[in-house]
Amino acid sequence: MADLSTSAADKKEKEFFTHVPQEAPGFFLKGSHQYDWGLKNRLSRVFNPRDGRTVMLAFDHGYFQGPTTGLERVDQTILPLEPYADCLMLTRGIQRSIIPASTQKAIALRASGGTSMVSPFEEWEGEIGDKKFKLGRPGFEPLSNESTALSIEEAIRLNASVLAVQVFIGSAYERQSLKNLTDLVDGASRYGIGVMGVVAVGRAMARNAQYFRLATRIMAELGANVVKCYYTDEGFETITSCCPVPIVIAGGKKLPELDALKMSHNAIQQGASGVDMGRNIFQSDAPVAMMRAVRGVVHEGLTPEQGFQMYQDLKAGG
Ligand code: R5P
Repeated sequence: MADLSTSAADKKEKEFFTHVPQEAPGFFLKGSHQYDWGLKNRLSRVFNPRDGRTVMLAFDHGYFQGPTTGLERVDQTILPLEPYADCLMLTRGIQRSIIPASTQKAIALRASGGTSMVSPFEEWEGEIGDKKFKLGRPGFEPLSNESTALSIEEAIRLNASVLAVQVFIGSAYERQSLKNLTDLVDGASRYGIGVMGVVAVGRAMARNAQYFRLATRIMAELGANVVKCYYTDEGFETITSCCPVPIVIAGGKKLPELDALKMSHNAIQQGASGVDMGRNIFQSDAPVAMMRAVRGVVHEGLTPEQGFQMYQDLKAGG
């Protein structure tokens, strides 16, 4: 793997040109200026053409982990947040059963699945001396054994702007998840629908800039129109710089609100085109206040501290 190589032939330093924006002549969104009208229009519903950014609200977690904390009743916890989102990232089941068809928000529709939190984990049994042990098979990630879980006709019926597909670079099912991505790109691009590749992380997958550069770039090269990955404290600007399409960050596990706002702010400063955030919003003590504060940081140029003040004020005001 070239990016992981330390061979003599690969000694030339990489140059990421992090201070040189990639041009998109005549269109506001990175990498998207040569698409057809319909796809540009759909992406303009996800990303605000005024600033090229988005606040996507992610609540698709149930597709593999059931009633996630904060999502036990989506009608109670997510519908109050809907007015403050640019885009709703969700499953077709929740869309049909809970989200009013009158919504004006863009839809990022979950299009891969087929595994769960309790998918069987393959174990090795071994012995050292008189000690028996059990180990997970290296590189075997049962959650990565996904297939596509949506037809293009269904995506059209549900008026999706983009389809979301999990990609597991470095897992046992890497090839299969990349095939899911390319199959969805082939199908969706026939109708001007976008595809968002979602970088999955797991035991065999390091959460660092080197891994995310590899994963995001592979997805963009294979046709993803948008890529979602995690923020890294080190080198995030190199990830966004060498990915030719927009990157949005996942929030990850619940953090203190100020930390989540700092992460959002830093990601935007370092080239992200927005956030696709779930738990850090719907697991907050005051989800509407947090959602509005995240919007303030992403769209209104608030500092994390100003965003946190906004969160506290709104929380105090009920
Ligand atoms: C997870 O697999 C889902 O795709 C979520 O949409 C994603 O992880 C973002 O949610 P969070 O901000 O909670 O990490």
